[in-house]
Amino acid sequence: MKEFLVAVDNLTHRDGVLKGLLNKKYDNFWFISPLKFKKDVLFSFDLAISFDSSFYNIYQEQLDQSVFNLLADLESYFCKKKSKIGFIVSDKKWKFNCENILIEESPRKLKELVKKEIRGEITAADFKQYVENIIDSFQRKGINSFFIALNGKENLFNSKRVFTPFRVFNDFSLKRLSYKGALIVIEGIDGTGKSTQAKLLLEYFKSKGIKVIKFREPSDSKWGKLIREKSSEKDSLSPEEQLDLFLKDREYNFFHNLLPYLKKGYLVILDRYYHSTYSYQGAFGIDKKRILKENLRICSPPEMLFILDLPVEVAWKRIGDRKKDNLFENIEFLKKVRENYYDFWGKDIHYINADQRPSIIMKYIVKKIEERFPLSLFY
Ligand code: ADP
Ligand code: TYD
Repeated sequence: MKEFLVAVDNLTHRDGVLKGLLNKKYDNFWFISPLKFKKDVLFSFDLAISFDSSFYNIYQEQLDQSVFNLLADLESYFCKKKSKIGFIVSDKKWKFNCENILIEESPRKLKELVKKEIRGEITAADFKQYVENIIDSFQRKGINSFFIALNGKENLFNSKRVFTPFRVFNDFSLKRLSYKGALIVIEGIDGTGKSTQAKLLLEYFKSKGIKVIKFREPSDSKWGKLIREKSSEKDSLSPEEQLDLFLKDREYNFFHNLLPYLKKGYLVILDRYYHSTYSYQGAFGIDKKRILKENLRICSPPEMLFILDLPVEVAWKRIGDRKKDNLFENIEFLKKVRENYYDFWGKDIHYINADQRPSIIMKYIVKKIEERFPLSLFY
């Protein structure tokens, strides 16, 4: 089937970033104004991209991984560059974590100017002059390469030292999925058997000769370590502080651990992910939509999610000797957490009754993974 794409952006009817870029890659594409945006229409396409930040993250999970992968690919492209790069962008969503990137701090002003130029209130030359001034200020700091994403205005700066999304996409040849591997997440409240399953799955797939690796969250980053240290005491971290630390830890884990292996074609098994933040910090009272949105800015949804489900009382007994009066583990709280997990649903999300023998649960997960991917993908 030919790929179909819909871009949601009111500026894309002009000779914008997307138009040039996507002409090459998709046989069919549509542009829809955000004003005409309807969720169900959008979901009927293979792929949807919104370069308008208000839509960008909210529907991310349902929208395939494309937008996220696009940005992750750009990020990895720029992180590999040896020299420092200046970023001139009209939207704050262009946020990267590379040390060699310096971002111009006034996206709002730039966006206003882009709009003014479109409305004919200033000339293209005025606009160009403004950006040239930013370039000069970068050059005074010794930065000679630039990335420009200006809603279609980058053609004003057709010089070799300027990278634009168009150039980057051509150089880098983005694919629909930017990694060959698959991310498999195991979730559930404490004591449901996540670590047991992660270990069994790792052993099973290893014995089949598959490229497989296991990670967990909180990870071993400095933020993950801090979380583990602090979580032994009650009330040691406010919900906002928890959210902040989990997000930092996750961003690190995603870019330093998960993504590199996913790119190498590994089956990556992950014990807890953003669904934990959604369910736990959500149970602490933080707005769940916000949690999801903030997470999907920094990491990509998994290919498959397995949620181990167990009555809290049973899980509680299993936790046994583990310290029970810590930050996250108390019985009433875990009941709320279990409820929050039920918010996740979808084709590749499976609930499992965790009150079965570990080997039975493991076989069920393996069966679902094998139905979803040919294992030869990971040899
Ligand atoms: P989690 O990582 O979800 O907190 P663990 O894998 O550490 O859970 O398991 C918690 C406890 O329950 C451990 O003592 C483990 O041996 C036991 N356990 C794990 N899976 C099962 C199961 N399916 N049935 C009974 N006990 C289990
Ligand atoms: P856990 O997997 O239980 O670690 P360990 O096996 O070392 O006890 O994770 C630690 C706790 O952190 C767990 O109770 C759940 C909590 N947690 C959150 O509250 N939010 C999150 O985003 C994550 C990943 C974990």
